[in-house]
Amino acid sequence: MKKSRFIVGFFGALALITLTQCFTDKQNQGQKLYVQHCLSCHMEDGSGLRGLIPPIAKADYLQTHRDELACLIRNGADGPMVVNGIEYNKEMPGVHTLREDEITNLLNYIQTNFGNNNKRYTMTEVEEMLDICPVPHGK
Ligand code: HEC
Repeated sequence: MKKSRFIVGFFGALALITLTQCFTDKQNQGQKLYVQHCLSCHMEDGSGLRGLIPPIAKADYLQTHRDELACLIRNGADGPMVVNGIEYNKEMPGVHTLREDEITNLLNYIQTNFGNNNKRYTMTEVEEMLDICPVPHGK
């Protein structure tokens, strides 16, 4: 009796650990994509590069331009842009290969990390935004 309870407990715990790891992995997709595609410019802590690359950390732009960010990630940006009162005007390359679910995870990662505590996106919302992306400049 005692022994079987131990076995149930043991395998129960094991299953729980495995499950938790699966979920954590999925949640980490946003972070992995950030490291892979964004960190080189926006920096590990999201602080950007003074005067050249705008910050992700506590950036007002993430809230004021929330609905444009899916297209920004896919198609990039150019032209002047004001972030936290400072003007930037440099080209950001888009990552055309990212799928809708990847863009959703990436956006949710930046909106809820780096000191940000903003509204998350659903995948449907991101799909709708991507459907109506403006045609990128000069393309
Ligand atoms: C080659 C450097 C570079 C890379 C790589 C890059 N960005 Fe940018 N990012 C910029 C620049 C420069 C701007 C400002 C564009 C402008 O002036 O029009 C910008 C602007 C932004 C903005 C809007 C302003 C702000 O900071 O809130 C967001 C959000 C953003 N980038 C997120 C990302 C994400 C997410 C990735 C990865 C998929 C990424 N960027 C990859 C350079 C880069």
